[in-house]
Amino acid sequence: MKLTRRDWLFAAVIAVVLGVLLVSRGTKKSPPVPRDDRHRPLMQLLADGSGRELVERECLSCHSYRGAPLAAAHPPKEQCLICHPAKVE
Ligand code: HEC
Ligand code: HEC
Repeated sequence: MKLTRRDWLFAAVIAVVLGVLLVSRGTKKSPPVPRDDRHRPLMQLLADGSGRELVERECLSCHSYRGAPLAAAHPPKEQCLICHPAKVE
């Protein structure tokens, strides 16, 4: 079978659609860390040079079973601050 221009065009369209689907999967946006009194002290620690991992351990003191649990469908749960942007005021 000989491939015509139309065949190539068709293949290109499919490739683009698949590409968009693959890229947009897994890019559900993670909400930023809220700038409220609960979070500000931790962001301050981070800005003052405490290690990210040390600060992330504190997140779990609230975001675990009790308190403010994460949704069951929450993505892999370690290293909060890689996904959740955090800014100090
Ligand atoms: C003192 C308790 C506490 C600590 C510590 C804490 N959180 Fe929270 N967090 C909450 C509560 C309660 C909420 C929900 C209410 C709100 O939005 O303020 C929340 C909300 C959030 C949200 C926003 C969710 C949304 O829907 O917008 C993110 C993101 C978040 N926290 C990430 C973190 C990260 C990352 C850390 C560690 C650096 C952390 N939190 C530490 C109590 C805490
Ligand atoms: C792999 C990336 C990633 C990591 C790591 C991560 N999150 Fe999330 N988080 C997300 C995404 C994406 C959402 C939005 C989920 C949605 O809208 O369904 C989210 C949502 C949240 C919410 C809103 C409520 C909820 O459960 O949907 C909170 C609070 C939160 N994350 C806190 C944390 C904390 C605390 C940690 C560390 C223990 C953490 N996240 C680690 C990506 C991440």
